[in-house]
Amino acid sequence: MKAKEYQAILQAAAEVLGGGMHIVNAQGITIFYNEEMAKLEKINVSDVLGKPLRETFSFIQGEESTIYQALMHRKMTIQKQQTYLNVYGKEITTVNSTVPIIVEDKVIAAMEVARDITDIKNMSDTILDLQDTVNAKTDGNKSKGINKYSLRDIIGENKAFEEVVARARKASLNDVSVLIYGETGVGKELFAQSIHYDGLRKNKPFLAQNCAAIPESLLEGMLFGTVKGGFTGAEDRAGLFEQANGGTLLLDEISAMPIGLQGKLLRVLQEEYIRRVGGTKDIPIEVRIIATINEPAEKLVKEGRLRKDLYYRLGIVNMTIPPLRERKDDIPILISEFLKKYNQRYGREIWMVSEAAREKLYKYDYPGNVRELENIIMSAVSMADDEHVLEADDIEMGSEYKGKISSFRDFATNSNTLSDYLEGIEQTIIRQHLLANDGNLSKTAKELGMLRQNLQHKIKKYDI
Ligand SMILES: Nc1ncnc2c1ncn2[C@@H]1O[C@H](COP(=O)(O)OP(=O)(O)OP(=O)(O)O)[C@@H](O)[C@H]1O
Ligand SMILES: [Mg+2]
Repeated sequence: MKAKEYQAILQAAAEVLGGGMHIVNAQGITIFYNEEMAKLEKINVSDVLGKPLRETFSFIQGEESTIYQALMHRKMTIQKQQTYLNVYGKEITTVNSTVPIIVEDKVIAAMEVARDITDIKNMSDTILDLQDTVNAKTDGNKSKGINKYSLRDIIGENKAFEEVVARARKASLNDVSVLIYGETGVGKELFAQSIHYDGLRKNKPFLAQNCAAIPESLLEGMLFGTVKGGFTGAEDRAGLFEQANGGTLLLDEISAMPIGLQGKLLRVLQEEYIRRVGGTKDIPIEVRIIATINEPAEKLVKEGRLRKDLYYRLGIVNMTIPPLRERKDDIPILISEFLKKYNQRYGREIWMVSEAAREKLYKYDYPGNVRELENIIMSAVSMADDEHVLEADDIEMGSEYKGKISSFRDFATNSNTLSDYLEGIEQTIIRQHLLANDGNLSKTAKELGMLRQNLQHKIKKYDI
């Protein structure tokens, strides 16, 4: 095939992928550079094509470009955010994936694919803004007792479970880090909030961040804050650490946090100060960290998804919340508490479940754990007419629910597309506003500028 034909194939490939593409040969000369890339890097194709890379871009902070690393060290880079100066001295930020191209054990070229992150950056600002308003409100409403869980709200008499509750009670009396392991819906957030609101810090902020819902380039700024004109090009803004200062920060699904960021987090925990992204000032912080994982820590460490040193630092108190199928003796008391709660909410008078219904509820294995049992009871109560006993037929356990769990898992681990990011972000914002408004739908919908029905739909969709 002729060079021209290869060129056309590459051109088409780049177009289909919908991003910028830049290929450099072993001598560091650009041999392919498309229009899309030129747009991202705010230069002309002719500024780069046929020229040595070193002459066209310069890197700040003594960093090496990912292309250079691919050529020299055969290093592959996936979705890394980079900031550098183009040939006109303008600062550019892109998210790149770079691969060395190796033929017969020789590096013959390096290829880079870039995406524009302006959208994500704008979104980052929006989220951080919203977060500020939510936090301001939460602080203001502190004395009114916004939706907060405490140890009293935790239901369960199973022996192993009560031991976990006892550990939580102890943990609430000091302020060391806590690592909570448990499957989805076992009550990790319930425990985390209880440790905070039953503890010494109850009058200080409690903030939560799900590490799986947010792309890496955003997460760092959200945690540590940003400086105007700095690395992310964002505004001056306090991150969650600063906002939670003196209080507690819940980091959900910590193992979804990229390993590099885990290292930074560890440093912050050890040194007790943070530096905003792009900033130079050290800001002292004192935040209690509660982290959660939904796979065993040993497994995550072994698979390289959780840094061992961070695991030791976080897991000063380790808590494992057993799944509901391992504490089925708690099913009756959970049923009766949830009946009480939803009778009240829906104005029903259901006193009990029939023998057959009880058996049905007992036999099921609850992949969604207590949350799932609660949802089952909630929908049975809300659908009930004026009966006083729930029959087996009134109890509906869902294949639908299983689908939901796996789709959330897929989302958490494979969220790559912009719409996935946005859904994750939307979910985070809705959760936080609901929390700040004590679960009040009308108020939350009004604040978020959406219809109540629309909000309800989203809550259902995201299983909030
Ligand atoms: N022991 C419990 N007593 C009462 N309610 C519980 C208990 N455990 C869980 N719940 C209910 O289940 C819901 C889900 O719990 P929570 O959000 O804490 O789970 P999670 O472990 O954080 O799940 P995920 O991993 O999906 O985030 C809670 O809102 C609460 O209503
Ligand atoms: Mg949770």
